[in-house]
Amino acid sequence: MTGPYLIAGNWKMNGLDSSLAVLEETARSCERLSEEVDVVVFPPATLLAVSSILLKDTRLQLGGQDCSSEDSGASTGEISASMLKDAGAKFVILGHSERRQRHAESDDLVRRKAIQAVQEGLKAVICIGETAQEKADGKTLAVVSDQILYSVPRASAVDQIVIAYEPKWAIGTSVTPTLDEIAVVHKHIRQELLAHWGESGRGICILYGGSVKPSNATEILAISEVGGLLVGGASLDAKQFSAICEHGRSVRAAA
Ligand code: PGA
Repeated sequence: MTGPYLIAGNWKMNGLDSSLAVLEETARSCERLSEEVDVVVFPPATLLAVSSILLKDTRLQLGGQDCSSEDSGASTGEISASMLKDAGAKFVILGHSERRQRHAESDDLVRRKAIQAVQEGLKAVICIGETAQEKADGKTLAVVSDQILYSVPRASAVDQIVIAYEPKWAIGTSVTPTLDEIAVVHKHIRQELLAHWGESGRGICILYGGSVKPSNATEILAISEVGGLLVGGASLDAKQFSAICEHGRSVRAAA
């Protein structure tokens, strides 16, 4: 991929009013980045609207961490794609493994959420990835193929979809796949996207996620087909997250 890297920071269930200073610091660092890197932070929904006011006129974009498969109605506690958009989000993470596991979200539900998100003009960051057992059983490629087939809506334009490959066993564990393993899976994902979308499937950005840190960002970003990173823990620290974004700038500039 030759477009800008997409570096995404998933705050998960972290962030209070006092955390807005982290966003402001991240936004200041982003101003130093060139067009080689796009940066988006996914704070908790409670901070979206205020963050969007705070970040107005900055390069830092915002996203929601999940949305409903419906647009409105009797769904206590749910947040719709239109609400996220209204609060200033441009992206939404869908099918994160923590939701697939703890909330039993199926591929079909993730796909329906993605359809809603795309209809509202949000970019859907759809997470896929195998468990440790599936990896041990040699099923990684089959698992991601199935997840692409059933959780990514095929009618969507390629610039409205982002795929995040996040092996479940690599999330929050400080353990990452080898660079070769990441390369093999990303190449396979690209082949699947080409098979479903034809040549335009080349335009879908594929992120790597799972224990990304400033110390491993450069080598992961340098892998062919890695279009950016989905960063969890390290995105809560403005210095670490900015360092990862800066590595993105350097790798793109050297390419
Ligand atoms: P991690 O989380 O960077 O803390 O491993 C990644 C994610 O869950 O998106």
